[in-house]
Amino acid sequence: MFETLVLPPPDKILSLSVLYRNDPRPEKMDLGVGVYKDKAGDTLIMKAVREAEKRLYDSQKTKTYVGMGGDEGFNNAMLKLVFGAGADLSRMFACQTAGGSGALRTIADLLKRARPDATVWLSDPTWANHQPILTAAGLKTAIYPYFDAATGLVKFEAMLEGLRSAKPGDVVLLHGCCHNPTGANLTLEQWGPVADLLVERDLFPFVDLAYQGFGDGLEEDAASTRLLASRVPEMAIATSCSKNFSVYRDRVGAVILMGKDADSVKIAGAQALSVTRVLYSMPPDHAAAAVRIVLEDDTLQAEWKAELEEMRLRMLNLRKGFADALRQQTNSARFDFIAEHRGMFSRLGLTEAQVNRLRDEFGIYMVGDSRFNVAGLKEDRLEELAKAVVAVL
Ligand code: LMR
Repeated sequence: MFETLVLPPPDKILSLSVLYRNDPRPEKMDLGVGVYKDKAGDTLIMKAVREAEKRLYDSQKTKTYVGMGGDEGFNNAMLKLVFGAGADLSRMFACQTAGGSGALRTIADLLKRARPDATVWLSDPTWANHQPILTAAGLKTAIYPYFDAATGLVKFEAMLEGLRSAKPGDVVLLHGCCHNPTGANLTLEQWGPVADLLVERDLFPFVDLAYQGFGDGLEEDAASTRLLASRVPEMAIATSCSKNFSVYRDRVGAVILMGKDADSVKIAGAQALSVTRVLYSMPPDHAAAAVRIVLEDDTLQAEWKAELEEMRLRMLNLRKGFADALRQQTNSARFDFIAEHRGMFSRLGLTEAQVNRLRDEFGIYMVGDSRFNVAGLKEDRLEELAKAVVAVL
């Protein structure tokens, strides 16, 4: 059996963690996988989540199955988080998934059932796992222009032009905020014409909202998704609690569907659950229950929001500090875009050979496309990092 198999290529992002861990150099710097780290370099459990876990431990009497869609309280709380407290949820469905990737794969399988010939359009570039997930679900993919490496901005006109060649019924995967890997995002004004184009060309929006709260704020980061929801007839959203609740390993995310009406979304939701039933039967419970406890308790929710905001502001400061350090070292504005970008990542615009030199000569780890994790930066090592970048330019 297994003799027919060959080794797959290593995962471009996750394999970096292993390389980093095995690097004996004490001065090494991990800017690879998208995990938030504090000043000390630790990824701590958030205080409100910790408290919710204690309450869960004290009150939970059984580990019996919760149900196909996971924790209903969690699902309702996620709908409110994405659409806002007073939103009309009558055409919405949500189910808990095994992380954001579980949500992406569930939606991909659902799309394959609903419209097997649809092509899913992906931004150039996009998260390294998007295309493999969609292909694994049997969907075709195509690419629309997005990032202008020369300016660090979104090529907005080219993006619209590229999407005009999608055929009616196709799907467009959009990053709701904090574009991964570039950090370059559409302005809210630009989302309007995108919504117009989706409606005009009968394209289905598939929003990846894995970083809500890491860009401009919890509400601000959901604004594009809310704008789309107010304009398009139907949409799908994959969201994740990995980053904003810092529950990475526990795998908590959600599929959110918006249908033309309550009846159609009911059917679509039931189909989504029959997808997850064959993928992994039911989602893991623990951290989803903790997230539900946080979101249902005003005090814990306020504590969580404050801690998340602290993380977001720290990333913004690191962006500014790193852009400043690079301005000083290069005597140019070449890297100023880093301060303008939002979210966990930006790309330095280095070649793979330069990225490899950073790793080999300086112990600095980033993804091969020169994507770096802003939260991996250290306040007191920005100058040193900027010098290393200049050394490989
Ligand atoms: C990332 O992009 O680094 C994270 O989303 C982690 C992952 O699974 O790739």
